[in-house]
This record gives sequence, C-alpha cells and structure tokens, in this order.
Amino acid sequence: MPLYPDDLVEEVRSANDIVDVVSGYVKLQKRGSVYFGLCPFHSEKTPSFSVTPARQMFYCYGCGVGGSVLTFLMKYENFSFVEAMESLAQRAGISLPRQEYSPQMKQEADEKQRLFQVNREAGRYYYTLLRSSEGRQAFDYFKNRGLTEESMRNFGLGYSDKFGDRLYRYLKQKGYEDGLLRESGLFSYRERDGAHDRFWNRAMFPIMDVHSKVIGFGGRVMGDGEPKYLNSPETKIFDKSRNLYGLHIARTTKRPQLILCEGYMDVIALHQAGFDNAVASLGTSLTGGHAGLLKRYTKEVYLSYDSDGAGVKAALRAIPILKDAGLTVKVISMQPYKDPDEFIKALGSEEYQRRMDQAENSFLFEIRILKQSYDLGDPEGKTAFYNEVARKLLGFAEELERNNYIEAVAAEYQIGFEQLRKLVISAAARGSALPKKTQSPSSNRGQKKKEDGIKQPEKLLLTWLAEDVRMFSVISRYITPEDFSEGICQKTAEALFGQYKSEGEINPAKIVSSFENEEEQREAASLFHAQIGALTKADMEKALKETVIRVKAGSINSRLARLDPADMAGLQQLISDKRQLEQLEKLHISIE
Ligand code: GTP
Ligand code: MN
Repeated sequence: MPLYPDDLVEEVRSANDIVDVVSGYVKLQKRGSVYFGLCPFHSEKTPSFSVTPARQMFYCYGCGVGGSVLTFLMKYENFSFVEAMESLAQRAGISLPRQEYSPQMKQEADEKQRLFQVNREAGRYYYTLLRSSEGRQAFDYFKNRGLTEESMRNFGLGYSDKFGDRLYRYLKQKGYEDGLLRESGLFSYRERDGAHDRFWNRAMFPIMDVHSKVIGFGGRVMGDGEPKYLNSPETKIFDKSRNLYGLHIARTTKRPQLILCEGYMDVIALHQAGFDNAVASLGTSLTGGHAGLLKRYTKEVYLSYDSDGAGVKAALRAIPILKDAGLTVKVISMQPYKDPDEFIKALGSEEYQRRMDQAENSFLFEIRILKQSYDLGDPEGKTAFYNEVARKLLGFAEELERNNYIEAVAAEYQIGFEQLRKLVISAAARGSALPKKTQSPSSNRGQKKKEDGIKQPEKLLLTWLAEDVRMFSVISRYITPEDFSEGICQKTAEALFGQYKSEGEINPAKIVSSFENEEEQREAASLFHAQIGALTKADMEKALKETVIRVKAGSINSRLARLDPADMAGLQQLISDKRQLEQLEKLHISIE
C-alpha cells in the first residue's frame, strides 16, 4: 500500500528543484543544458554524474545510479522513502499528514524491542555459563584456539549447556511468553514434548548489529561434529544479509580500510592481533546489502578469504558486488595457510600486515585466476584468454583508468600495450556486453544479462521520447507500451505514453518517483538515460527506424516464446505484427 498519495509525492518532488538540492552535496558545473559533477556514489576523477534540470533527474554515466530528487536523498542520506519525503516537504514548507503509527506498526516495534531483550538475556546466560564450572570445556576450547580472556570478553563469547531446555525454562521464569520465544529462533518447538534450546553444548558467538545489540548467535561444536557451526535462523531483528560479524567494533577503527573474512574465528583472531578493522559475513555469501553496509564505513575493502578453492570462488563472487557498491577491493593471500586465523597463529601479525601491504588489486586477481582456465601453451587458448581479458577491460568506463589497467596487464602477461589496446577496441566494436555495473540482489547474473540485451533499444526509445515529445507521433504508430519488456520497463513506458496522451507533455521525474523502492527508481531513471551521441537528422532517422524494429522484434519474440499453442487469436495477432514488421523494414521513418 502506498504511503502517500501520488499527488502529494509529486507536489513535494516538484517543489524541490533537483539542481538546488544536489548542489548542497555535490559541486556542479553547467555544460549546455546539463550540470555535471563528481559522482558521490562511486570514486572517479572526471565528472560523469549529471543533473538535468529539464527532466529534474540525476544520472551517473559511470556507475548507473540515477533518479529523482527523492532518490538522491534516499541514496545520499541513507533515507527511507518516508524520510526523504519528510525532509523535502520540510525544505519546501509543505506539511505532510502525520504518519500515524497504526496499532500494527506499533506492535511490530514493540515486538522488535522484546526480541532484542530476549537475545540479550540469552547472551548473558551463555556468557555467565562459560565462566562457571560447567563451562570449563568451552573455556579451554577457546583458550586452546589461542584466544585471550580479553578477546572472549570483547566478543561476549559464551557456552550453551547440555541440558536441552534450561535456557527456555530460565526465560519463561523471567516472564517471557511463548509467542515471543518462538519468534526469537533460540528454541525448537516439538509437537510431542514442547520447547527445546536450539543451542546445545556449543561454544557460543553472539552476533551483534552495529549498535552492539545482540541479534542472534553462532554456536560451534567443540571438536568434530556436524554441523560445525549452528546459527540462529533469520528473525525480525536478524537479517543475515544486512549485518556483519564484528562491525560494531570495526566501525570505530582508525585504520582506513575494512578487512572482510569468512569466519567468526578469523575476525576474533584478527582483532586480537591488532586488526580491529576485520568483519565477516554471517555464514552466508556476500550480498549487496553487506556491500552497502561496508560502504557506509569505508572506501576500501581487503578480502581475506580462505586460500582454498571455495575461498577463491567466494572472492570472485564478492569482488563485483563490492565494486558495484563503489568500493575499492584488494585481495590478501593467506597461502600456504587456510585462513587468517591459522595464518596469524603461524606467522603473526607483522607478517599479516606485510600481506596487507602486498595485497593484490582485485582486477589483477580476477585475471590471474581467469588465466588458470586457459591453456596458454596453445595458440587458440592464448587468443581466447586475451580476448576475454580485453572484454573485461572494457568494464572500465574511464579511459585513463582503462589505459592504466591495459598497461598493468600487458606488463604482466607478455603482450604489447598497443596490441592489447587494439583488442579492447575491437571488443568494444563487437558490442561485447559490458559487465553490468549494478545488479539487484535477487536476480541471477546470467538471466539479467540476457534481459539487458533486449533493454538497450527500449532504453534508447524511452530516452528519445523523454528528450523530444514530437517523437511520440512517430513512434506510437509502431510501438505500444506492451512492446516493452515486462516489469519496470513496461510500467515506465505505460506511464510515459499515458502522460503524453492525457496531458500532451511528459514528466519523467514524476514517473521515477512513483516507484517507492530505490532500486526501482534507479532502474527507471536509467531508462531515460541511454547514451546518445549528437546525430545528424538523417542518422537519427536511421537509428530510430533500427531501434523501433529491434524493440518490435524483441516484443514479437518474447510473446512467441510464451504463446499458448491453443491461443489462436494471439497467434493471429503475432502473424499480423510480424507482417507489419516486415513492412517497417522497407519504410523510411522521418522526424519533422
Ligand atoms: P573454525 O576455524 O574451524 O572454527 O571455522 P572457521 O572460522 O575457519 O570457519 P569456516 O571457514 O569453516 O566457515 C566460515 C563460516 O561459515 C563460519 O564462521 C560460519 O559462520 C559458517 N559455517 C561454517 N560451518 C558451518 C556449518 O556447518 N553450518 C552453517 N550454517 N554455517 C557454517
Ligand atoms: Mn578457521
């Protein structure tokens, strides 16, 4: 359910000129009808961040973020939609209806508070037990793994006993009701014999959010056994993809970077060795949520993953996610040891510091790993490798940066700078798909890429339409909103065509801010920012015709793929569309 009526969102948005608002954060310079500045969302040396007053939108040609003035505040200030609305309404002197907390919202907030309490009680319980005679074995376990008592205290380590339901009884006796205990994830409920403690005879690691509130636990078997680590399930306060182990301490580090590793023990061992900037994801692979969180505290991340195949694979997965968030990434080698914990134990902190100083640039790391899957002794394998490298080099949008990388790779891999640069140019000419800069966490990469293949011409059409309303009379003869791919693209096209029909003019920023989620706003904004060079009228007509044909053909193909064989009417429609498409190829589209 929308939080504010559309009209109100539009009133607030249009009362805040985007150039005024953004100027408060970014130094902008006018070039023609567009303002440019250094993008606040990724690091760059030449401005590719644009603000277009006519469209009331911003867009970065470097990292692909974009949207309305609302999106800008959501991203820059980390505001929710409601907070961005409140801030802009206040700026423009518009009063918003008070967001009355519904009884349901109030109850949710109360419930979260109670869940924090339960977790804190449990944490204290485990903590005390570790230091009692019952916790002896766990205490020795931590000691044997080289932890000092200070480290155990700093990380609130504990022990869960062998009884099976003692924590449950303890919390019940303190007055916590079953509904809440069930929600906490600390217990399992069985039909036959009721509630049981989830953690049983384990060395306990409380997991804290950035405000040092306990939100869950990891419990390790002492010795061998399965599962090695048992973790709290996700709850209303425990979102594994938005929290990092150790961040409540690492966020105050004086060091300029954060170290990202895989295990709880790695984090504690690193902190103990003086690297108070280490964090780990919570037994799950890294997500965009984690990357966004890291970005709030640092610009640079050092990956200190396990040195085995799984660790390398995890690093290869993590690098693009971190880069997408605008972070610089370096990779630390733990060879010949398994992980940071074992490395530190064997070689100590000075050696670890040396490894940090020698950390490998993440792009060169990717290339080095890539090389292992090609046979460079074979001319064919060698060619394929260099072509793949060239394709990857295309991912650097800035020429200076790209050349620096070409130079580094050329020096390392026995190929001339000019030769490699030529390969990069021909990769560009082949239209090799540039690696996507951003991805939504839920979609898988492969599928996303395919979608983008269709979207490029759609994006072009929408950009042209937004630039020049006269395009509507030309384009609407051939294309309807249904021809755009489903989802944001189609919704945006529908809204744009709708505006034109009912008002004879268009307002792209209104469309963008009608999406409440930042990711959708970004995607919608990018649809109005295809890169188009200055074209002569004749070239423009040619390009327009080609684009219309590609969009139409894409639409026919995707409907064909989905067509129910029994749907005769649908088939008829497709045949007629196909015929129309053939006609189009012969036609000359003119813009007057
Ligand atoms: P030890 O040093 O053996 O204590 O473990 P580690 O810190 O080296 O961890 P490892 O590299 O084996 O695993 C990394 C992280 O993955 C751990 O910290 C846990 O968060 C998680 N993990 C490991 N084993 C399991 C498991 O069996 N189940 C679950 N759910 N998570 C696990
Ligand atoms: Mn380990």
